[in-house]
Parts: sequence; C-alpha cells; structure tokens
Amino acid sequence: MTMLSGRKRKSASAPKAAEGSLFKSCEAGIGFAVGEASVVATPEGALWVPSTATLIVSDLHLEKGSSFAQRGRMVPPYDTRATLSRLESLVLAFRPSRLVSLGDSFHDRSAAERLDAADAAAIRRLTAVTDFVWIRGNHDPDPPIDLGGSAAAELVTAGLILRHEPRPAPAPGEVAGHLHPCAAVAGRGRRLRARCFATDGQRLVMPAFGAYAGGLNVRDEAFAPVFPEGCAVVLLARGGAYPAAAGRLLRDV
Ligand SMILES: [Fe+2]
Repeated sequence: MTMLSGRKRKSASAPKAAEGSLFKSCEAGIGFAVGEASVVATPEGALWVPSTATLIVSDLHLEKGSSFAQRGRMVPPYDTRATLSRLESLVLAFRPSRLVSLGDSFHDRSAAERLDAADAAAIRRLTAVTDFVWIRGNHDPDPPIDLGGSAAAELVTAGLILRHEPRPAPAPGEVAGHLHPCAAVAGRGRRLRARCFATDGQRLVMPAFGAYAGGLNVRDEAFAPVFPEGCAVVLLARGGAYPAAAGRLLRDV
C-alpha cells in the first residue's frame, strides 16, 4: 500500500494483551478481522478493506444542519461541507477503487435538493473517481443516483456483507452502521467519550462519519442483540484510533 506513504498516523503503539488478539496497529490505522476479512479502522472513522481497495463510511447524514434549520433550530450550516471535505481527503489518501456509503448518507428524503452547488460538485467528483455505492438507509431509502454512483440495499464483497442496519441475529462478516456507536473509557483520572468502531471479531458497527451525527454508547441495550457477548472498540479521539477491550468500556453517567 503506497498511497499512505508520508502520512504519519496516530494509533495505539502497544495494545494491551486483552486487545491484542483482535487488534494490530498498522500504517493506515488499526487492523483487525471481521469474520474472514482483514480490515483497517482509520482515525478519521472510515474502514479500509485492502484486498479490494474498498473504502467504507457510514451515516454521513448530509444536510442535517439545514434539516434542523427548517424546523427552526438554527445551527451552523457547514456540516455537509465539513463531512465531504473529510471524505475527499480520505479518497486522496487511499485512492480507493470502490467507495461505499453505508446508508443514511442524507439526513432526509429532500436533503439532496438542498445541497448547494459546490457540495453537489464535490459529490460528483467522488462518484466520478470511484465505483461509488450508496447503500440504502432508513433516512435515505432512495439515494440520489443522479449525483453518480449506484444504489443497493446491501453489498457482498471480499467476505463482508455491507448493509445499513445490523441484523438482530448472528451475521458473520456483517459491516453495518445505523447505531452511531460511541464508547466511554477512564484513564489517568479522566473520562473520555468518543465515536468508535464496535466489533466482536465476527461483525462490525461503523461510527457515524457525519459532522452532526450523534452517538449511542455501546453499553446501551440497543447493542445487545448485535453483540450478545459484548464488543471491543476502536475509539476515535484526538485525531487517533485507539483499541479498547470490552472490560474497559463504561456506561454513560
Ligand atoms: Fe440509520
């Protein structure tokens, strides 16, 4: 993998023993297995699948800011620009053959109509340089393929099953989003709560990539059907990616 040469990435240098069986630091981030597939969690919150040069992001929730504004809740309207800028930077770094947006790419069904011209152009650039796949989400069941790319309910590739909502039953190789996982850990007398990748080694729930997307603690019961035995995480904090074993994860206070 040459596309990352020269990029110094933060990642935990020595995972603890309990984490080491799952995770391994590498140049692009934190490597681990989901079922039979090898993947890398990047500090930016994307998943890299080296065997197929596929980059996966989830829950962009583009135009969430303008959705709030329509309802009278005024927030800075720059979330779409910020999210797309981060995504373009990743595409420049990884040069993926395929880019998969794992559903809830847009915050609501009319979100694409509210894109300004520069943001629409940014999406067209992404769909022009990659085999771009819009996975359908509950917020965006009809992704705007007039911006390029193709739409699918799910995608099977390289031993992985990519879909928006995790199945409640065992699903080896599943990579899903929807739940916006966050995790809390304690260390050096401080408590840290941040977005995370959540995995039990058989399946994975991706962090939300969107600037305004919120997060749900992986200790919440919503994760119990997905990870009945609990999960380890890769925390995204201070520009780095840091593994944490299930036993370190705290509930929200
Ligand atoms: Fe969703």
